[in-house]
Amino acid sequence: ANPASAPQDLAGRQVVVSAGGTREPLDPVRFIGNRSSGKQGLAIARAAAARGARVTLVTAHLDADVAPATGDLRTEFGTEVIRVETAEELATAMRAEAATADVVVMAAAVADYRPATVSESKIKKDDSGDALSLTLERTPDILAGLAAERPRGQVVVGFAAETAPDREALLELGRTKMARKGADLLALNVVGWRTGFGADDNAVIVIDRAGVPVAEVDGSKDAVAHALLDAVLELEAARD
Ligand code: CTP
Ligand code: CA
Repeated sequence: ANPASAPQDLAGRQVVVSAGGTREPLDPVRFIGNRSSGKQGLAIARAAAARGARVTLVTAHLDADVAPATGDLRTEFGTEVIRVETAEELATAMRAEAATADVVVMAAAVADYRPATVSESKIKKDDSGDALSLTLERTPDILAGLAAERPRGQVVVGFAAETAPDREALLELGRTKMARKGADLLALNVVGWRTGFGADDNAVIVIDRAGVPVAEVDGSKDAVAHALLDAVLELEAARD
């Protein structure tokens, strides 16, 4: 995990990264999920480990083709890998891990809503007829909670996936989201039916708390990961 080529500029830091997509159970055999592959979060965890950080990866569901076995992940990062399913489990794990972290990155795609009740037995068609209505309730905003309670000096980074027609619209949506989240950095990216989820490449604009773009990358998810970590270090340097 430590190629000699990577600068060890995160040595001594603890970085906590969430990745993947949460799954919210409906009954013992069904869930509500999303299209996140987990690639971008894994790339960030890998990049941070390669640059010398102690990394904790908190991961929801990963696409089978990007997910090494948990043991392999553990070896790769030399530290902890915590597997979670739901937004609630992710919230609990992130709260615990973030308490001692220098950098927290929320790259997971978190369900915004979950079934208000989870059926203990498999939901049967015959009980619902031709249409089934589900009542969903909001999940906690993990990123906003982490940002509000972050220890002094910790850098909190979020992502914002938007369907925006152009750069200005993306920035506008990003600034509104930043105001709600209170993070230090927000990586804005455009998602659509064919872009974003599952792809090897990503295009992001990173904005700071004031909504000012501080980095812009159009490339591999590894390149995006390194640029994001660069932006974290620049932010830390500017504070001193
Ligand atoms: N996020 C979170 N907890 C949630 C929802 C999102 O921590 N319940 C985090 C994501 O991990 C991401 C950031 O918030 O880092 C933005 O996620 P996004 O889905 O773009 O924003 P939302 O606030 O959920 O707004 P919306 O989906 O309505 O655009
Ligand atoms: Ca959302």
